[in-house]
Amino acid sequence: MRETQFTSKGNGVDQHPAEPEEESFRQKVRADMRAWGNASGLRSFGRLALFEPGFQLALSLRIQEKVARVPLVGRLCRRALAYATSVATSSHIDPHTRIGSGVWFPHPTGVVIGGGAVVGKNVIILQGVTLGVASEQVRGGPVIEDGVKLYAGAKVLGKVTVGTGAVIGANAVILRDVPAFRSAVGVPARILEKKSP
Ligand SMILES: CC(C)(COP(=O)(O)OP(=O)(O)OC[C@H]1O[C@@H](n2cnc3c(N)ncnc32)[C@H](O)[C@@H]1OP(=O)(O)O)[C@@H](O)C(=O)NCCC(=O)NCCS
Repeated sequence: MRETQFTSKGNGVDQHPAEPEEESFRQKVRADMRAWGNASGLRSFGRLALFEPGFQLALSLRIQEKVARVPLVGRLCRRALAYATSVATSSHIDPHTRIGSGVWFPHPTGVVIGGGAVVGKNVIILQGVTLGVASEQVRGGPVIEDGVKLYAGAKVLGKVTVGTGAVIGANAVILRDVPAFRSAVGVPARILEKKSP
């Protein structure tokens, strides 16, 4: 299994190269809207914010990140919003998880993402996806690099890396690294041969 490499940002916080660099609230929301626009054709912020639960989930994550920076009451507000979002979507996304911009949740139910996970940019996450630790004894969650598709019910467990552009099939259980631009299916997952063009 490839060791996950972390680099120091100089602020005492170790950062994986796949970890999204700091983008502003607006940049993230715009990129989330683009992801929705490209996939569904919906481009109006009002329609997305009012009627698309997946966009509401992404927006809630962005707002949680922003309000947490407000002195004194910020963390409490983030917790309250995280709780309400969790109840509304039956999903639990740890408010400390860094999720890159352009995330798309087509069907935002039953998604569980633990605090140890790192999610890159332009990742698609379907219903029932779990990103978390492999066991209570071993800390650290998966790194999901840019452009990964996590199909319905996929579970990615432990300190593994899913490489850029990889596809994780429905209900796959990923316990080892997945190379970039490859597909993994099954329990435990196997890497599919590349299809000839
Ligand atoms: C992962 C996926 C994208 C692979 O698609 P693909 O590259 O076209 O793969 P193929 O259909 O050619 O299948 C290749 C092999 O993987 C197997 N396979 C494909 N998806 C699988 C899955 N989810 N679980 C287990 N095996 C799977 C096939 O049986 C086939 O096995 P074989 O080589 O032994 O015959 C697709 O199968 C998948 O899981 N899609 C999920 C879609 C989804 O979540 N839909 C819900 C929408 S709401």
